[in-house]
Amino acid sequence: MKATAVANTNIALIKYWGKRDETLFLPMNSSLSITLDRFFTLTTVEFNESFNKDIFFLNNIPASEKEENKVFNFLNKVRQFAGTSLYARIYSENRVPTAAGFASSASGFAALAAASTRALDLQLSEKELSTIARQGSGSACRSIYGGFVEWQMGMQIDGSDSFAKQILSEEAWDISVLSVLLATEQKKVSSTEGMKRTVETSPFYPGWLSTVEKDLIEVKEAIRYRDFERLGIVVESNSMKMHATMLGANPPILYWQSGTIDVIHHIHKLRLSGTYAYFTIDAGPNVKVLCLPKDEKKVYESLLSLADVQEVIICHPGSGIKYLE
Ligand code: PMV
Repeated sequence: MKATAVANTNIALIKYWGKRDETLFLPMNSSLSITLDRFFTLTTVEFNESFNKDIFFLNNIPASEKEENKVFNFLNKVRQFAGTSLYARIYSENRVPTAAGFASSASGFAALAAASTRALDLQLSEKELSTIARQGSGSACRSIYGGFVEWQMGMQIDGSDSFAKQILSEEAWDISVLSVLLATEQKKVSSTEGMKRTVETSPFYPGWLSTVEKDLIEVKEAIRYRDFERLGIVVESNSMKMHATMLGANPPILYWQSGTIDVIHHIHKLRLSGTYAYFTIDAGPNVKVLCLPKDEKKVYESLLSLADVQEVIICHPGSGIKYLE
């Protein structure tokens, strides 16, 4: 009863920010992402009657108690779903820069959901797998699929209609996503905590909710017509609006560092000089820059010239879950 799965991470173009149910990981709004080809988690799960407790190794060493708790809680949900009480051994390898803002939770819980359900021989559809992965980390439900993926928030109280689906395959439209890694050691507010505080205290949060659906429709239209400029404008604006809701939280949350702002100004300058590049920022200081493949080298080199930029990793749309024998 053993299986291995690989999941790529994803970057949201329309952000998920806020839960309406903390236990089931139900979002306040729908979101849309691109699965990336360069960052992934590889996870092996084995269930066996001879095991007398769960163990979890992350990157070849025993995981911290905090990490164990999250993973074992998730495993309990899988066990409940499968009707088993068997213990498991989990070995995970993260090929995601662990610095702030490069969330490994999306690929981590997608790979864990896939490997654990396969090890238990549950024959799940991608929709069912996405629904389960969501309950480890919201963004993980999108990493089940490759390419451009939409997570529909759903309306049901039990979360049965809150899952992701692919809207365009990774082969259908190539765009470049440059992951810009900044020099920073800052400890961050977790996305779970940041969302909760924003929903509960930010007077700007209702403003976010009132425009996010329109942004989603706009991004889907841009994807449909492969209109990169139209896509970039709404992606950048959506990310800025999400960060604006956090600035209004009490106490305020500011994920950006000075290097983050340097990249923002740099992208604006690139556009003024005729290169279409757009940024998006998650719950951390690092920035992802979108551009067309024909411009990626130029954008890459110009980003590396900024003082606080440590590394730039060029990504493209990547695939969904893969199982290794
Ligand atoms: O699912 P989490 O806890 O990794 O939260 C993801 C939050 C953002 O990255 C900021 C937005 C998103 O949709 O991925």
